[in-house]
Amino acid sequence: MMKHEQLAEYVYWIGKIDDREVPFHRLVLTKGTTYNAYLLKTDKPTLIDTVDFQFAKEFVNHLSQLIDPKEIQYIVVNHTEPDHSGGIAALAHRAPDATFVCTEMAVDELKEMYRLQNRQFLVVEDGDTLDIGGKTLKFKETPYLHTEETMITYSIEDKILFPCDIFSTHIAIEELYNDEVDMTDDFLGYYQAIIHPHRRYVKTLMEAMEELDVQLIAPSHGYLIRKDVEKFVNLYAEMSADSDCNKKVTIIYTTIRNNTRKIAHIMQEKLEEYNIEVAVFNADRADHDEILDCVAEADAVFIGSSTKYADLIGGLEDVLKKLKEINLEGKIAAAFGSYGWSGEAIEVIQDYLKETNMNVQTTAQIIKTTGMTDVEFPIRIRFSPNDNQVKKIEDSASYVADLLRSTI
Ligand code: FEO
Repeated sequence: MMKHEQLAEYVYWIGKIDDREVPFHRLVLTKGTTYNAYLLKTDKPTLIDTVDFQFAKEFVNHLSQLIDPKEIQYIVVNHTEPDHSGGIAALAHRAPDATFVCTEMAVDELKEMYRLQNRQFLVVEDGDTLDIGGKTLKFKETPYLHTEETMITYSIEDKILFPCDIFSTHIAIEELYNDEVDMTDDFLGYYQAIIHPHRRYVKTLMEAMEELDVQLIAPSHGYLIRKDVEKFVNLYAEMSADSDCNKKVTIIYTTIRNNTRKIAHIMQEKLEEYNIEVAVFNADRADHDEILDCVAEADAVFIGSSTKYADLIGGLEDVLKKLKEINLEGKIAAAFGSYGWSGEAIEVIQDYLKETNMNVQTTAQIIKTTGMTDVEFPIRIRFSPNDNQVKKIEDSASYVADLLRSTI
């Protein structure tokens, strides 16, 4: 069912209520969901987000009851995932003069997804404003909340925030606002499933929220929040807060020309920025019993080796064999190393780690559970880490730090 409702002067919600059990991010949304789009019927009519791809035609037909699509001047795309950008498939040719407003990263995605190579784009950055003829929109980039290209849009005159996925709930509601319902459980469930894997980026969002006077949060799924706005914003801050408890990481390595040692120390520095206690051991120099005692106390273990003759080097294998005999349940583990040709040692370490009962990090698992593609495990660095690789190592260390410091 497609509906619309006026939220403020010239501001309309146009929503598709999807009351099926919707497959989504390897979940099944048992309560369904809604896809909320918004029309600001100002002198320069502006659409903020659309609906799921499969409802694109229905959306455009419904939108046409409110406005001739030809009149639309701007289509703001806060997030390119097709459950919000999907309406563009049917709308783009019906709104030939519309300019697409989005982050720089979203431009190529939209061009590819909807064949918009010949269309006009307006790239916006943090703090940019756009006069839409009677109202002013302000934009804030919110990378990784929950994909890299995302942003939020704020209508200054209306004090309405359009944050797309952020502050959403997955529920096929008939009532638009949260006035009469306790939506807390659904709100928390959505946060945990979609936002929490990216919790380290929530801090940036919270800083932006402090600068905005928000009277209504108009997200792209579920309830529009006008009751207890502050409470729901604060829930994001609380759930993404770091835990106070002390965490420990042990890093063990062997190295030929100090490149694997460099990786170990880049990780150490990054982890220490998060107030995590880090012990670093060269397995060729340290006492192995001391290393194993430290592992037993650690919350996470990184193990790395350079590769020589397609194998591990030095005394690391002795440590790895002993790890298999210890109960390491609940600890996070990851492999790393510098290599020149194929990096077999890193994969051998990974195999050893998988034989323990630790939670071994892999790129595949991270993509499947979070959608993040900037974090890679095992960490494989060819020769000495260059600037891009240093960032890659730091991002991976930060990811583990986040896992350790998560309060939920
Ligand atoms: Fe609701 Fe990221 O899509």
